[in-house]
Amino acid sequence: MMSVKELIKKMTLREKLGQMTQLDGFYFSESAAITGPINEMNISEDDIALLGSVLGTTGAKQTIDIQKRHLEKNRLGIPLLFMADVIHGYRTIFPIPLALGCTWDPDLVERAMAVAAKEAAVAGVHVNFSPMVDLVRDPRWGRVMESTGEDHYLNSLFARAFVKAYQGNSYDESFTLVSCVKHFAGYGAPEQGRDYNTVELSNYTLRDQYLPPYKAAIDAGCDMVMTSFNTLDGVPSTANTWLLRELLRKEWDFNGTVISDWGAVKELVPHGVAEDDREAALKAIKAGTDIEMSSCTFLNWGEKLVEEGVLDEALIDEAVERILELKAKLGLFENPFRFADVEKEKEIILCKEHRELARKVAVQSLVLLKNDDNVLPLDAAGKKIALIGPFGDSKHILGGWSCEGREEEAVSIKEGLEYLMPTISLHVAKGCDIEEGTDEEISKAVEIARKCDVIIAALGEHAGMSGEAGCRAFLTLPGRQQELLEALYATGKNVIVVLFNGRPLDLRPVVEHSSAVLEAWFPGTEGGNAIASVLLGFDAPSGRLTMSFPYTVGQIPVYYNHLNTGRPKLEDTEENRFCSAFLDIPNAPLFPFGYGLTYTTFEYKDIQIDNDVLTPDTIIKVSAVVKNTGSRTGVETVQLYIRDITGSRSRPVKELKGFQRIELQPGEERRVTFDITEDMLRFTTLDGAFDSEPGRFTAMIGPNAAETLSVGFILEK
Ligand code: NOJ
Repeated sequence: MMSVKELIKKMTLREKLGQMTQLDGFYFSESAAITGPINEMNISEDDIALLGSVLGTTGAKQTIDIQKRHLEKNRLGIPLLFMADVIHGYRTIFPIPLALGCTWDPDLVERAMAVAAKEAAVAGVHVNFSPMVDLVRDPRWGRVMESTGEDHYLNSLFARAFVKAYQGNSYDESFTLVSCVKHFAGYGAPEQGRDYNTVELSNYTLRDQYLPPYKAAIDAGCDMVMTSFNTLDGVPSTANTWLLRELLRKEWDFNGTVISDWGAVKELVPHGVAEDDREAALKAIKAGTDIEMSSCTFLNWGEKLVEEGVLDEALIDEAVERILELKAKLGLFENPFRFADVEKEKEIILCKEHRELARKVAVQSLVLLKNDDNVLPLDAAGKKIALIGPFGDSKHILGGWSCEGREEEAVSIKEGLEYLMPTISLHVAKGCDIEEGTDEEISKAVEIARKCDVIIAALGEHAGMSGEAGCRAFLTLPGRQQELLEALYATGKNVIVVLFNGRPLDLRPVVEHSSAVLEAWFPGTEGGNAIASVLLGFDAPSGRLTMSFPYTVGQIPVYYNHLNTGRPKLEDTEENRFCSAFLDIPNAPLFPFGYGLTYTTFEYKDIQIDNDVLTPDTIIKVSAVVKNTGSRTGVETVQLYIRDITGSRSRPVKELKGFQRIELQPGEERRVTFDITEDMLRFTTLDGAFDSEPGRFTAMIGPNAAETLSVGFILEK
C-alpha cells in the first residue's frame, strides 16, 4: 500500500472533504428513498461514494455489504470507518455506565467492556463512541446515566479501563475497536441540568475537576475525541481553537482524530458564532474538527473556502491525514471488513459466558440504600411475596443507549426470582404504569399485597426519562408510583423497594415509606437474575454511590468535593443564621458519595499515619482498622480522602485519592493501608502551575464521603 501522504496527493479537494464527513448508514443503502435526504444535504449521490465514515450501522452483513459496495464506487479504494455507540454493551447489555461506576471496580468494568467490544467488532464496528467521561453533578441532566459519576479520580480510572477494553494493547489484537472519548469538554455541567445548555466553568474547576478524565483516556492511548455541544467561555467546543488545538493537541500531545458531535458543526449558527453554514464549516475546520458528523457543511463549502483563500488547504490535508492514518492503523486498506463475521456473530453474541459476566457486573452495581431490621436478604421460604409495581414483571430494564440490546432477551425480576427459587410463592400486580395509573389498579395491587407476608415494590423511571435530552425538573417517582408505594406501606407489611432509574432521584418520600431500598439503576440483560440473587441473599450487595443523592431538588448541584466557603455550616450548631446554609433543608445530601450498605456491618477505628511529614521524595502510609461486625462475610470499599487545608486557592473539603475493595469474614478485622505521595496533592495553583503546595493536610479513611476518621500531616518542600 502507498503511504497516506502519497494517497492524499492523489485526492481531489472534494474527496478529502468527503473523508471529513460522516453520515448515517441510511445514506449508504441502495434504496431510492435516500434521494430526498441527499438533496436536503445539498450533496449528490456521487458524493456518498467519497464519504469517509458511517454512523450507527452495525451487524456483520450490513457493514460488509456497505463496505463492498463502497469500495466498488470509491475511485481510490479508500475503505469506510464504521462508528457506533456501544455504550454499555452491544447485544449483551451491561448496567448503564452510572451503575458501572458504582461497582468501584475498573478491572471488572474493563472485562465487561471487552465483551462489548468483541460483540461489536464481529458486528463490523470499528470505532466506539465511548467512554463518555463527562463529570456530572446535576441529576436533572438525563445524561448522568452515561457517566461514571461526580468524581474525577474515579472517572479517570474508569476512563482508562474503557479505553483499554476497546483498544487492547494494539489493533493487531482480535476484536479491538477504536475508542472515542466524549464529550470534549465540560458537557456534564449544563446550567439547570438542561441538555445542550450553556456551561459556565471557572478555569480552575475545568482544569482540576472536569478535564482529568478526558486526559486519562488520552493518556491511555484513546485515538479519537468527540467535541461537546456546549460552549466554554462562550465558544462552542466544535469551534474552540483553544480547546482543540492549544489544550488537546499542543498541551496534551493528542495526535488522533477529532469528530464533532451529531450536527454540532451546523449548530454553530444557532449558537450565534457563525453567520451561516459556510462560516460554521470554516470555524470548525480552523479550530481543529477533523470529521463532521451528520451534516455536510464541509462538503458544501470547503472547496469554495479554499478557493476564496480564507481556508488553507494544508489544514484539510492534516485532518485527512489523521483520518487515513487511523484507517491504516486498523489495517482497513488490507482488510476493509476487519472482524466483521456473520458466523462469529452467531457464535459469540449473547453467549452464555457474556451473560454470566453481565450478571456478575449487575450484582456488583446494585446499591443497597436502606435496610431496616435486616429485612434483606429476604427469607422467602414458606412466605407469600407480593411483587408490585411497573417493573416487577418488566423487561424494560436495559436503559438508554443499549445499542442492539433487545428487551425480550432481558430477565425481569419476576423471572429472576422464579428461576433462583422455583418454589417461591409470588403474587404479582402492576399497580400502575410508570407514568399513569387508575384507582382500580392501585386498589387491586394493594389487596393482593395485603394477603402477602412481604412486599417487593419495583418502581422507577422508564429508560427514555434519562439519556440524551432526558432531563427532568422533578426527580420524584413519576406518575402515581409514590401513591402506590404509600398505599402498600400503609398495609403495615415490610416493603422492599427496588428502583430502576438512570439518575439519582429525590428519594426522601420513598425512604420514608419503605423498609429497604435497593438501587438497581438500569441493570441490563441479566438484571432480574442479579436483583433476585441479591434479594434472596445468594449474593450480597456491594455497590457504592458515585453520585450524591440530593435531599431535594433545590439542593442541586450537591457533590462531596465542594469548597468550604468562608462561612461553612457546622451541622451540629443551629443558632448561626449567617452561614452558608438553607433555612429549610440540611446541606448534606440524602445519601453521600461512596455510600452503600451490605448484609453485614463494618466498624472503622484506629486511624494511624506512619510519619506526619511528607516530602516530594517520600511516601507516608495512612491506615485504619476495618472490622466486620456482622454475621455474614462482606465486601467493603474502604475509601481514602485528602483535604488540603490552606492553598493559594480554596481547596475542596475532601477529595477521593484511593480505595480498596476488601472482603472480611464475620468478626475479622484488617488494617487497610494507603500510600500518600506528593503527586497526589497537586492541583492548579494560583499561578497556573499543576503543583502541590507545602502546608497542612488531613487524610481521611471511611466507608463513604460523609463518615470518615481523620489524621493530619504536613507537606514540606
Ligand atoms: C449525539 C450524542 O451526544 C453522542 O454522545 C453520540 O455519540 C452521537 N449522537 C452519535 O450517536
